[in-house]
Amino acid sequence: MVIRIVGTGSSLPEQVVTNEELSRVVDTSDEWIFSRTGIRERHLVKGETTASMSAEAAGRALCNAGIGAEEVDLIIVATITGDYMTPSTACEVQAALGARRAAAFDINAACSGFLFALHTAYAYLRAGMYKTALVVGAETLSKIVDWEDRSTCVLFGDGAGAAVLHVCEMGTKGNGREEEAGGMLAFEQGTDGARGKVLACRGRQNNNLLEKNPFVPSYVEMDGQEVYKFAVSTVPASIGRVLDKAGTAAGEIKYFVLHQANVRIIQSVAKRLKAEEEKFPLSLSHCGNVSAASVPILLDEMNRKGMLVRGDKIVLSGFGGGLSWASAVVEW
Ligand code: COA
Repeated sequence: MVIRIVGTGSSLPEQVVTNEELSRVVDTSDEWIFSRTGIRERHLVKGETTASMSAEAAGRALCNAGIGAEEVDLIIVATITGDYMTPSTACEVQAALGARRAAAFDINAACSGFLFALHTAYAYLRAGMYKTALVVGAETLSKIVDWEDRSTCVLFGDGAGAAVLHVCEMGTKGNGREEEAGGMLAFEQGTDGARGKVLACRGRQNNNLLEKNPFVPSYVEMDGQEVYKFAVSTVPASIGRVLDKAGTAAGEIKYFVLHQANVRIIQSVAKRLKAEEEKFPLSLSHCGNVSAASVPILLDEMNRKGMLVRGDKIVLSGFGGGLSWASAVVEW
């Protein structure tokens, strides 16, 4: 059985906010933000919603795959910023696309969310339950960012990316034996809940029947240096494990498509893997950190630029809140 990514799509809000513009809102500068993170600007919603961007990205991915919405069996949206607690964003995508026969649900694994969702969809397809899955990563982080906290608000952006995962015909390879020819080769994922509070955003508090609790909004809170240390040690280890599982050497990988949190994290991972930095494409400078959406947005940008060629091996890797991490080796 060969399970491939057969289409990608993405959607970014129209409004672009530069570092310069942010420095009029909080005490910061383009120099500080860019030198520490690699971010120049980010897209922020102004009317768009998590569901509207998800549906647009998903529709583009289906179009890219040449697959109709009515053929989709499963829709998984990875998000921590759905518009409703219920229905899920995935159900909203289903309605917007008219993917009537699909089952749809959301996954919360923060910045690793797209990889967790991809892995989950893969498991359904691999088990023979479904043939076609839409996997979306989407966020409107601007809703949960404290615009008075310069240590976090400069980092994040909004957007959505999507991929279509499909069971393809068995191919032949090597000595003519029928074998699995490419597609999703290996996964690895994990979480460390004990360290979760270093990157957190509280949900709604108690709504006590007898006491009148004032509504307290909650925002992203982060110990940046702890998250940084977590990322630079966990991500290379996770990629090492997934490469071992796939029986693939780091040198065989054409691109490492990493969650876009910080260019310094990406450079450190490249160094630890002894891989050239050119193999680590970036969307950070124009998107910022879009959590679950960053990997599929970047993947779609690469796909549309013709950077992904059949037979090339790439690594996808996400990491962040939870704490969580997940990596995959994919033969395009
Ligand atoms: N503009 C200007 N100064 C800022 C600032 C901003 N936006 N944000 C923080 N500062 C200041 C701090 O107040 C501090 O000032 P002080 O020395 O006078 O106290 C100084 O800059 C250094 O702050 P610090 O937090 O030590 O900076 P840092 O070098 O660790 O960089 C991050 C901060 C957030 C860029 C860095 O820790 C990081 O990238 N962490 C990982 C975060 C991440 O990727 N999260 C998402 C994971 S999915």
